[in-house]
Amino acid sequence: MFHAQILTLFPEFFASPLSCSIPKRAISSGIVDVECIQIREFATDKHSKVDDTPYGGGPGMLMKPGPVVASIRAAREKHPDTHVVMLTPSGSRFTQAKALEYTEKPGITLLCGRYEGFDERICDYVDEEISLGDYVLSGGEPAAMCVLDSVIRLLPEVLGSPESAVLDSFSEEGILDWPHYTRPEEFEGKRVPDVLLSGNHSKIEKWRKEQAELRSKQRHVKYSDCDD
Ligand code: ADE
Repeated sequence: MFHAQILTLFPEFFASPLSCSIPKRAISSGIVDVECIQIREFATDKHSKVDDTPYGGGPGMLMKPGPVVASIRAAREKHPDTHVVMLTPSGSRFTQAKALEYTEKPGITLLCGRYEGFDERICDYVDEEISLGDYVLSGGEPAAMCVLDSVIRLLPEVLGSPESAVLDSFSEEGILDWPHYTRPEEFEGKRVPDVLLSGNHSKIEKWRKEQAELRSKQRHVKYSDCDD
């Protein structure tokens, strides 16, 4: 069983996405178990304070190290081999390769921050800092849910057909998926490409490969391609 732990101030955020579709099935069939741990439970003062103002001034509040580090320790106590991932816009970019890497671990612990971020010293207690992309979310929760979802669907036995994950966009480094069509053959004047109706499987395979490469070239702006 793959263990997922989520350290958060908002455990209710995860209730709905985990009760739908693939994550729901993976949990109910015992492939994964997900436990949300409320960071606030590790606050030690009488107001259960988990945030404070930054030294040196500036706007916003930071997550205090005490309660967060105590929650990480609690997660490691439950699952000593867990891989602790902090969700932060300043982390390394999350990729499909990372998702696959996480499936090979006994479990992951996803640390979600709120407010303007974490006290920097918390970084010494995590294994990795991960960002979903170059935009700022109001907290780590949506990012953690994306990471968890992408990992769950890659766990052995989760997807109906093992081929589906292998054929995903990005399974081959940087390659997007080809375009897909289903019935009807014509929709509002737009026809399914003839090649897909031809029954010629080698032609279809060739077309799909070309389309995937074309899309990847047109739509993928790699980091290294950016000037600024
Ligand atoms: N927390 C806030 N923004 C984030 C992002 N882009 N990725 C991961 N965690 C975040």
